Amino acid sequence: MQTDFLVIGSGVAGLTFALDTRNYGRVAVITKKESNETNTNYAQGGIAAAISPADSIESHIKDTLLTGEGLCNPDAVKLMATEAPQVIEELSKLGVGFTKSRGAKFDLGREGGHSARRIVHTKDATGEAIETTLIKRAQERGVDLFENWLAVDLILKDGRCVGVRVFDTHENKVLPFFAKSVLIATGGIGSIYLHTTNPRIATGDGIAMAYRAGTPIANMEFVQFHPTSFYGKKIDGRALLLSEAVRGEGGVLKTKDGNAFMEKYDSRKELAPRDIVARAIHSELKKRGDNYVLLDITGLGSRKILDKFPNIYNACLNFSIDPIKEPIPVVPAAHYTCGGIVVDIDGKTNIPGLYATGESACTGVHGANRLASNSLLESIIFAHRAAKTAIGDSKIRISKIERLEKNLQSSNLESFNSLEKEPCKEDVISDYLLKIRELMWEQVGIVRNDKELKEAKDKILKYKSEIEKIYETHKISFQLIELRNAVTTASLVIECALKRKESRGLHFNIDYSEKDELHYKKDIVLKKLDKRIKLN
Ligand code: FAD
Ligand code: SIN
Repeated sequence: MQTDFLVIGSGVAGLTFALDTRNYGRVAVITKKESNETNTNYAQGGIAAAISPADSIESHIKDTLLTGEGLCNPDAVKLMATEAPQVIEELSKLGVGFTKSRGAKFDLGREGGHSARRIVHTKDATGEAIETTLIKRAQERGVDLFENWLAVDLILKDGRCVGVRVFDTHENKVLPFFAKSVLIATGGIGSIYLHTTNPRIATGDGIAMAYRAGTPIANMEFVQFHPTSFYGKKIDGRALLLSEAVRGEGGVLKTKDGNAFMEKYDSRKELAPRDIVARAIHSELKKRGDNYVLLDITGLGSRKILDKFPNIYNACLNFSIDPIKEPIPVVPAAHYTCGGIVVDIDGKTNIPGLYATGESACTGVHGANRLASNSLLESIIFAHRAAKTAIGDSKIRISKIERLEKNLQSSNLESFNSLEKEPCKEDVISDYLLKIRELMWEQVGIVRNDKELKEAKDKILKYKSEIEKIYETHKISFQLIELRNAVTTASLVIECALKRKESRGLHFNIDYSEKDELHYKKDIVLKKLDKRIKLN
């Protein structure tokens, strides 16, 4: 298998890159489930862009930097906020139908940490509108889409990334897929937590893969917990999100006995940045011994709820709650990773031929905390830049790749596809995954402490070495590949969390409850020492 541009992931980041590079060669997008099973597809609130006359790009920059608590890369933030209005135009031209309002081109929503109305949206299903449009355009333009293909590891030759080993779930076989340029756009890590708004695909595969190949990984301690997911019910393992946009329209957080509480925590109340709101809910739950708080949107009235939030309304009805008449039980859930594969603002990693963008990359835009609705935006802007770099950079000769292919096929793939190895029992794999998810939720959650982090580290390293052994000695499978990535990703989060001995943004450690500007106004970067995956 061979192509010019190989993209791992069919979310907004991967598809944007694919559309850009398509005019310059063959493009293959591999995705581990159906093309639309992505975090992108579930995005609700929208995309931040300062397009209202009452708003400004400077204000978008200021809000992003403030929320990022001193760790944002100001150049990347400036670039993102400045280009945001163009992104809205571009998506509209591609066919994304953003919600309009009377007298203005777009209806603008409001979310936490934003000092103005600036969220462009498609009612409460913005992600689906973007995902569907981009998949359609990619198919029309001849991008090769490979569904149910799971990237296993990067192939490196002479320090350059020349392709990916992929697991074809149709054939149950690992194959080499060679390319001039490889983009990691594998999305987030929410699924390493017991409760998450992310779909099951979010096991941090690209981050784990890049780490194994020797790419620096930064700021994994900054896991964002969304304050409001539906309590006690799941859809395919994913918690239903109640968009922050509903608080933007006047939704109020209350304790079970009906008392609003956000005023005690922040003067911006329900519209404080997410870390503050999530910690406030956590604190109320601990203090009162309750399992959930209430999100009361009855004050919005039925017209606004049905008009602006039809999907949320219907999803709540399916869970037997009518949000027009009664408050919704909610809890925080793991939602987003600010950390990831270290890239420059052109999407380059430290390995020639390898790029990363979207949620799996760390561009420095979000710092210690992401401002709501900056993620789809970041994914698109930096995917464009990565595509431009990759187009200029894809000079490796195909003849060289063909030699590599022969070499690889006759060597180490045999061990992956060995018929002698037994498959690992599925319940062994699911038991490990559950233990990891529980551990992360209980000991590496919204409020952390050193004792629990150290215990979590010991446990995760034990699981990691057991899982690596199973991986080497058993027949490879989809679940086993994911489990190996999940445990690696979890270990990276814990390691970063232990190294940051302060509280900042999304990382709150009660043993160091203040910010330490002197020692920790910096990224925490991890890098594997034995860095090369050898070809033989
Ligand atoms: P994704 O869209 O997650 O795509 C990842 C892709 O990688 C998938 O196709 C997956 O199958 C594939 N993949 C993963 N591992 C492998 C592998 N090993 N091999 C092959 N393929 C692989 N952000 C906003 O800005 N605004 C919002 O309103 C908003 N709302 C959100 C609501 C929800 C419920 C969630 C979960 C997130 C929301 N976010 C929002 C965050 C935003 O949606 C994501 O950060 C963004 O969509 C990430 O895009 P991506 O392309 O990087 O990854
Ligand atoms: C939401 O709609 O609340 C999610 C927005 C985001 O994650 O940026």
